[in-house]
Amino acid sequence: MRLLVCGGAGFIGSNFIRHKLSSDPQCEITNFDKLTYAGNPDNLTDVANNPRYAFVQGDITDYDALDKTVKERGITHVINFAAETHVDRSIHGVCKDFVLTNSLGVQMILDAVKNNKLEKYVQVSTDEVYGALDLDDTAKFTEQTPIMPNMPYAAAKAGGDLMCRAYWVTHKVPVVVTHCSNNYGPYQFPEKVIPSFIFRVSRGEKVPVYGDGLNVRDWIHVLDHCRALDLLLQKGEPGEVYNIGADNERNNMELTRMILKHFGKGDESIEYVEDRKGHDRRYAIDASKIEKLGWTPEYPRGKFEQGLKETIEWYLANTAWAEALWKRKQEWDEKALRA
Ligand SMILES: NC(=O)c1ccc[n+]([C@@H]2O[C@H](COP(=O)([O-])OP(=O)(O)OC[C@H]3O[C@@H](n4cnc5c(N)ncnc54)[C@H](O)[C@@H]3O)[C@@H](O)[C@H]2O)c1
Repeated sequence: MRLLVCGGAGFIGSNFIRHKLSSDPQCEITNFDKLTYAGNPDNLTDVANNPRYAFVQGDITDYDALDKTVKERGITHVINFAAETHVDRSIHGVCKDFVLTNSLGVQMILDAVKNNKLEKYVQVSTDEVYGALDLDDTAKFTEQTPIMPNMPYAAAKAGGDLMCRAYWVTHKVPVVVTHCSNNYGPYQFPEKVIPSFIFRVSRGEKVPVYGDGLNVRDWIHVLDHCRALDLLLQKGEPGEVYNIGADNERNNMELTRMILKHFGKGDESIEYVEDRKGHDRRYAIDASKIEKLGWTPEYPRGKFEQGLKETIEWYLANTAWAEALWKRKQEWDEKALRA
């Protein structure tokens, strides 16, 4: 397999590249990443000199760059992590960037896969495209749940998903789409809830909880997500959608208290802030379809506390990494303001 990983310098992509290089000695990887503020070459310093790894700086909305990389590197398979991913930025920032990368960028990749007759394309999407479930509901998202995104980020991701479906039906492009729930683990950008709370509490600051804190997310360890994606690269049925989740629903208060407890803190460290606009109430994933292919999480619900503890320890051991990322983000935003 000569694999093109788009967006491999971010949180999940960098974990995936490390996983794939170590678990599949035959696989050669080209990481194609624009290096936005969220893309960080430092996430992959340990594999940078691996002869089976190469990095190309490029934008997935640039078809010629994609096509050139596919041809020059003899690519056979593609997996796409490249996206604008921060929900709050899609609400308060430049929404156009979300549509360009998350929708148009996917269509560019589909063209590159079609025109070069590649063997498989896995499009990494999100459960947020399904919209929200009610708190008093026991239903979960299945692959048949209608696509009903509530936030601009999720709508832009849904645009990419629908384009995948259309390229499968129209052109038989061998694409698999995945809908995963919220990930936690090492190398996540510190603007996201878990690393941001860890750093705030470690500095003695309060943590901001949206609204009543009862919104539910279904947390999965990033390495379980990576193992699922690897399986789908090999065994996923073209034209199919697969949900990925570890059956680990937690409301935000529960998650916050688990993090605070690690530092010996309690509710006095919580600051309630105005709810996020369009804040989805509950996500929950029915992952039975991918489980039938043989995947099960190594961090199921019963091991969440352990996974979270390992994650907290990783961030506390990597504060310099996080500070460098914040600096990148500030520079990126200042450049955007000037433009
Ligand atoms: N983080 C989660 O909890 C989660 C859950 C489900 C699905 N997902 C999906 O997984 C994927 C990866 O998420 P993440 O949290 O690792 O994101 P991230 O923000 O950490 O990384 C995104 C990466 O994409 C790159 N990128 C952005 N625009 C690009 C472009 N136009 N061309 C090339 N590269 C570009 C960035 O430089 C960065 O390296 C996303 O598609 C996201 O929708 C994430």
